[in-house]
Amino acid sequence: MRTLPDFDMVLFGGTGDLAMRKLLPALYQQVKAGTVGPGSRILAAARRSLTREAFLELAETSCKPFLGADYDAATWASFAERLSYFSMDAQAADSYGPLGAALGQHPDRIRVFYYSTSPDFFAAISAHLGGAGLITPHSRVVVEKPLGHDLESSREINDAVGRHFTERQIFRIDHYLGKEPVQNLLALRFANVLFEPLWRREWVQDVQITVAEQLGVEGRGDFYEGTGALRDMLQNHLLQLLCIVAMEPPTASDPDAVRDEKLKVLRSLRAFTSQDVAAKTVRGQYKAGAVAGRPVAGYVEEPGVAPDSRTETFVAVKAEIDTWRWAGVPFFLRTGKRMPEKLAEIVINFRQVPHFIFGEAAHGTRANRLVIRMQPDESMRLYLVAKQPGDAMALHPVNLNLDFAESFRARRLEAYERLLLDAIRGRLTLFVRRDEQEAAWCWVEPILDSWAASEDRPKSYTAGSWGPAASSALLSRDGLAWSEED
Ligand code: BG6
Repeated sequence: MRTLPDFDMVLFGGTGDLAMRKLLPALYQQVKAGTVGPGSRILAAARRSLTREAFLELAETSCKPFLGADYDAATWASFAERLSYFSMDAQAADSYGPLGAALGQHPDRIRVFYYSTSPDFFAAISAHLGGAGLITPHSRVVVEKPLGHDLESSREINDAVGRHFTERQIFRIDHYLGKEPVQNLLALRFANVLFEPLWRREWVQDVQITVAEQLGVEGRGDFYEGTGALRDMLQNHLLQLLCIVAMEPPTASDPDAVRDEKLKVLRSLRAFTSQDVAAKTVRGQYKAGAVAGRPVAGYVEEPGVAPDSRTETFVAVKAEIDTWRWAGVPFFLRTGKRMPEKLAEIVINFRQVPHFIFGEAAHGTRANRLVIRMQPDESMRLYLVAKQPGDAMALHPVNLNLDFAESFRARRLEAYERLLLDAIRGRLTLFVRRDEQEAAWCWVEPILDSWAASEDRPKSYTAGSWGPAASSALLSRDGLAWSEED
């Protein structure tokens, strides 16, 4: 991999969970890979008053478990040379003069501000950076979700950040776009001739996008109470995956060509009326059960959660795209906490053959299916129907399995690692543009409004199951089933 030009990165929220779990480990990996030269500096900024030594100790202890076998003391020491700590109140204007002094005058150097704080601080940080003259032409800002809790609040945040950074300097991160199989889906679709002719209503019966987690809310109950699965996962990650599946071939791979096509998909999603919300969405909340053989508490028993909470920990939606390519093809999206496995995958179910010649016994053998798996393993499997060896014409599904770990031996970049590299290099293709984000909010808002107005509670499901029964019913009304039930 090419060495990066020297850069300065300021991590606001530098002692937080994301910094320790993802951002610092990602930067460590890049030091290890030799892409981050000794001239680059990473400045963790946070409120706590810590000496540099105390911060380095905290960072090493906190990051180590996430680095696993990739940790070694010598690389860490080299990484730590690039790392320093700056204690500041991000909302106080007078903290930014000293921050500027710590950064020094380097107008031609790449400067990345990473906002890994609550979005409530984004406006103040941007204004103070602007006020202190710290935003140079080579600066960029990376903003973490949640960017607002509805269209209006996301507009406010975007306006506040946009007053000081141009759109080309704003990197809205959706870490699902950094996952290798998602980029491979772009390669599959647009670097091969085989699939594109079939990638349309004539040949595709339905599309299923599942992101299931075994985890619960992991001590983030008070955050999750005001969020829920629709805002936390579906509005961003699942809709971005849907865009990659459904977009038209872009004219080039540059950021706007790709993002223009994703935007068209979001704008073609059929809007929900309140009757649609009742018929085409399912929200669920887990009750006590068992996951991976271990008993777990129900959502309302989690710390920080109201005993009568109506927050959904599961959502399933039938989305429809009103375009020539996709009219009549349902896109089923679902995501949930406390599901039986950690699974993220996209399933494209192709139609049955138009005329079946192999007799009744073999009829109904599932025809072609393409499964793009992001978690737990990274693979693409294409299911075909083949004849079983023997004297009868017995048919059986088999699959062509492209296991990325097997096919490509090189170390694969973690999603955050890839996206941090892109932000440093100034590549926007895998980041979300403002209009895309707002179109996504426009589409989910009627669902949120309708749920808020309804007396109904989320349907309960046992922790460790695939969600409420209504989720299966959502598909069976169309004569379909989720892939694990099929
Ligand atoms: C985050 C959500 O965006 O994605 C979390 O806020 C969720 O609630 C996480 O656990 C899942 O990411 P991944 O990459 O582990 O599937």
